[in-house]
Amino acid sequence: MANFLFLHLLLLTTSLSLTYISGQKVAPPPPPSTATTPPLPRPAQEFLDAHNKARAEVGVGPLTWSPMLAKETSLLVRYQRDKQNCSFANLTSGKYGGNQLWASGMAVTPRMAVDNWVAEKKFYNYANNSCVGGDKCGVYTQVVWKKSMELGCAQASCSKESATLTICFYNPPGNVIGEKPY
Ligand SMILES: *[C@@H]1O[C@H](CO)[C@@H](O)[C@H](O)[C@H]1NC(C)=O
Ligand SMILES: *[C@@H]1O[C@H](CO)[C@@H](O)[C@H](O)[C@H]1NC(C)=O
Ligand SMILES: *[C@@H]1O[C@H](CO)[C@@H](O)[C@H](O)[C@H]1NC(C)=O
Repeated sequence: MANFLFLHLLLLTTSLSLTYISGQKVAPPPPPSTATTPPLPRPAQEFLDAHNKARAEVGVGPLTWSPMLAKETSLLVRYQRDKQNCSFANLTSGKYGGNQLWASGMAVTPRMAVDNWVAEKKFYNYANNSCVGGDKCGVYTQVVWKKSMELGCAQASCSKESATLTICFYNPPGNVIGEKPY
């Protein structure tokens, strides 16, 4: 009986000290952070939200905003604006995935541009991973491409043509032949 009590106490002590040790291991609450990431510019957040909504609808995780990609698209839309009359950029040799939208006669918000790309969703057939009826849907599949992790976009307008060019880059690029987007 005495032995049993001793054992019991020992176990109790052991478990208490274990509790104590694990209590010690709990990290103290972090000090109030002064290094919070600044909020994204509004257009960036709008581009991101519109993409991530379309991705969530098919169970694909969100993109994050890449200042580097945003800078690349910004340089490109400005080049197209200043030298190419706001016409489509040639994205065929780029190392990123790219979507672009040209629109005339109306202001194009980031959300409108992305919604326009996502509208191709109706032409995408997941079962055989192709676009139905000879329509295009590669712009949509890039939006929801699961392995694309980063996004950067920019817009420019040519007032003379009342045209707006929107370009987004995706990294890594999507639309890999023979792969499904998700
Ligand atoms: C730019 O495009 C507009 C039509 O969108 C056209 O009227 C104009 O002549 C073009 N300018 C140049 C320099 O190509
Ligand atoms: C776009 O660039 C690629 C590769 O640099 C080139 O082969 C193609 O002809 C260009 N397309 C247009 C429309 O300029
Ligand atoms: C994919 O499936 C859709 C719906 O059944 C069909 O309309 C389309 O022709 C198919 N495409 C290919 C390339 O098989």
